[in-house]
Amino acid sequence: MAAKQTEQIYIGLDIGSTKVCCVVGLHEEGAALPSVIGVGVAPTSGMRKGVVVDVEETVSSITAAVDEAERISGVAIDRATISIDGAHVTSQNSRGVIAVGRADQEIMVDDVVRVEEAATAIQLPPNREIIQVFPRSYSVDGQTNIKDPVGMNGVRLEVESHIISGSLPAIKNLDRSIHQAGIAIQGQVLVPLAAARAVLTKRQKELGVALVDIGGGTTGVAVYEEGDILYSSVLPVGAGHITNDLAIGLKTSIDIAEKIKLKYVRAHTSKASLNEKVKVEELDGEVTRKELQNIAGARLDEIFQLVRAELKKVGKDLMLPGGVVLTGGGAKMAGIEELAKEALQLPAVVGKPEGFSGIVDRINDPAFSAPIGLMLENMSHGQQEQAPGAGIGQTVDRLKKTLRNLLP
Ligand SMILES: Nc1ncnc2c1ncn2[C@@H]1O[C@H](COP(=O)(O)OP(=O)(O)OP(=O)(O)O)[C@@H](O)[C@H]1O
Ligand SMILES: [Mg+2]
Repeated sequence: MAAKQTEQIYIGLDIGSTKVCCVVGLHEEGAALPSVIGVGVAPTSGMRKGVVVDVEETVSSITAAVDEAERISGVAIDRATISIDGAHVTSQNSRGVIAVGRADQEIMVDDVVRVEEAATAIQLPPNREIIQVFPRSYSVDGQTNIKDPVGMNGVRLEVESHIISGSLPAIKNLDRSIHQAGIAIQGQVLVPLAAARAVLTKRQKELGVALVDIGGGTTGVAVYEEGDILYSSVLPVGAGHITNDLAIGLKTSIDIAEKIKLKYVRAHTSKASLNEKVKVEELDGEVTRKELQNIAGARLDEIFQLVRAELKKVGKDLMLPGGVVLTGGGAKMAGIEELAKEALQLPAVVGKPEGFSGIVDRINDPAFSAPIGLMLENMSHGQQEQAPGAGIGQTVDRLKKTLRNLLP
């Protein structure tokens, strides 16, 4: 399908541990949000805990998802904003300082680029690469909390940036798989940040909120404060681990354990119902709610304890007026909000993409938050393209492109 001049096509491609998902959005000039005109989903093979372990298998999963999205939308897909996932990804906040260039001390876009570069001059361990950089706030001659310094006057410009980096081999294997599937990478976004883009409101981010994306193999965390990203990380545990635990605990196959999880497991169970017998057709028998709870509950407790420890690292344990927004496939488990409220002692709600037109029944689902967020990122920053095989040596280029796209 050829888009009209007043229309633009945007593509998000999420390579998750359990599914690859490709979303095609058609944006009409003047509309607030794109209309979703194509969705393709394929089960992932070749990924473990958010990281490529088999390039060939990953390529065929990507191809299957992209083909389906092409068929449904009628759009030929050769580019996308893609996800990056895995516990190898870490974040840090870094400061940059420069002297303003112009004699009349007016701050120009150039100065902003330079100060951002100064902030990225961090010591990264070997074999790590910067993936994303977010300027959080600027200060001019000691006046802090400036959102856009361009046009202001000053001598000394400082920036506080949030820098996300990851393991180079993991990034390269993912990039290679995407390129082999015939897709040019127009941007790469950490999963919880992509999901946040789709489900968090500006007000929640102003208040202070944590986005928790419970996927199949990972749980992503993104903490926002005063409208900006404060902290992000990926934990190597997800809802898929509950399935594995059930398979072991109930002595059954992974496929049956997955069915049992979806059908019978609740994240939160009242004490009174613990002795309740659950008839499990798949096992041709009965188990008590307590048995299910003992297995799945232990893993869920682990996930939320790890999330709480992440919040603690940035002093936000119990301290988020906007609460927690749960998303990802794991957030579909019955009773997850109650469990999160208890475990994190914060308000908690499930978030999913809302307010879109097009194939809405398909995407009205927490498991689609990240892919939809990637499509939205493609709309905002998708103009730059990355050459196949980009990686080492191209960090600076990649960074400059990122910075250029972050400029107002
Ligand atoms: N109703 C449900 N109850 C419990 N778990 C569910 C439910 N629906 C889906 N899930 C689980 O969600 C997980 C998949 O979530 P999602 O699609 O967000 O993962 P992914 O993006 O492929 O993986 P990751 O983000 O970890 O790389 C699977 O483990 C699946 O069993
Ligand atoms: Mg995911």
